[in-house]
Amino acid sequence: MILPNLESLELNGGAVLLRVDFNVPLDKAGNVTDDTRIRGALPTIRYLQERRCKVILCSHLGRPEGQRVEKFSLVGAGERLATLLETEVIFSPELIGDGVEQLVRDLPAGGIMLLENLRFHPGEQTNDAGLAAGLARLARIYVNDAFGCMHRKDASIDAVVPMMEHVAAGLLVEAEVRALSQVLGQPERPFVAVLGGAKVSDKLAVLEALARRCDALLIGGAMAYTFLAAQGRKVGSSRVEEDKKLLARRILERCAERGTKVLLPVDHVVATALKPEAETRIVGSIEDGWMGLDIGPATVAAFAAEIAGAKTVFWNGPMGVFEMAPFAKGTLGVAQAIAQCQGYTVVGGGDSAAAVAQAGLADQLSHVSTGGGASMEFIEDGDLPGLKALRKQR
Ligand code: 3PG
Repeated sequence: MILPNLESLELNGGAVLLRVDFNVPLDKAGNVTDDTRIRGALPTIRYLQERRCKVILCSHLGRPEGQRVEKFSLVGAGERLATLLETEVIFSPELIGDGVEQLVRDLPAGGIMLLENLRFHPGEQTNDAGLAAGLARLARIYVNDAFGCMHRKDASIDAVVPMMEHVAAGLLVEAEVRALSQVLGQPERPFVAVLGGAKVSDKLAVLEALARRCDALLIGGAMAYTFLAAQGRKVGSSRVEEDKKLLARRILERCAERGTKVLLPVDHVVATALKPEAETRIVGSIEDGWMGLDIGPATVAAFAAEIAGAKTVFWNGPMGVFEMAPFAKGTLGVAQAIAQCQGYTVVGGGDSAAAVAQAGLADQLSHVSTGGGASMEFIEDGDLPGLKALRKQR
């Protein structure tokens, strides 16, 4: 995919409106608890800063539904950015209008400014032309480095683009598209896809897209129980989507026709309740009154053996309830196996990226996406609304 890039811009130290995804987790006091997404935007910010541009950053945080909701303020993200850049970051409580336009005029060359949460304005998520026009008045140049929300047709991602004189994708967006395209395009084989998470229904399109391309599909997480139930296995009181069993059976049949190997869990960490203190057991078959909450050690070993021989690995979705220590071993085991794999390894954002970060393994993977929903949609469709908007302006 060819996107307009930073090198194609004649920057001349002008003002640049830079859309980033600073939708980061915060603690109760508003402090950033995981700054991966802020760090992800640093190369583009530095690139523009080094070229003496005035950098006007904008992002959303959470889902405040068009209202000013203090707990979703970007102040904390701005403070973290200032620490990381070792530079002052001017914060604008306003998104558009005379006040913020004056702040931009006063911003020195190479200066950094962050606008308040775009979703405090009701027009952001309705792709409102008025909000977009207000943002477009802040700069002539627009750069989108917000890979994590490229799947949203919001005003700062879509409507604003044709209103700018020059547009480009940022360095993070380029890196994300390159990595995910490598998985989708002509992956080196064997290509192993590892999918987990709670529901088959959430991952259906991704499951089908990957099953068409990969050589082996490893399924874990709660969604595995729907597949096991579809095969007539005992799953006790594990979470099963009854209405998706037929679909699960069809996916397995299609994989068999294509010769795609499918690995489902062969053992499980089960408990009597979804509580960290509940009694647990490792079993091969799940009896009534017990629920599967993680893949067991034999499954981790089987998945790891498959991953070890792969030339390309794509992983999305935890293997169990990894936020509770007794049910985290499966997810961490898979993360370790992928980190040790010599092939090209990509983690598709969300919970699996959090697990990789928690295990301190992020540096050992070829690419960890900053986009959860965005990377899933890219795997499904090979494109995203934000990327289309940029390409239209080339
Ligand atoms: C994300 O975290 O996936 C992106 O920032 C998009 O956020 P949203 O799902 O609230 O649109």
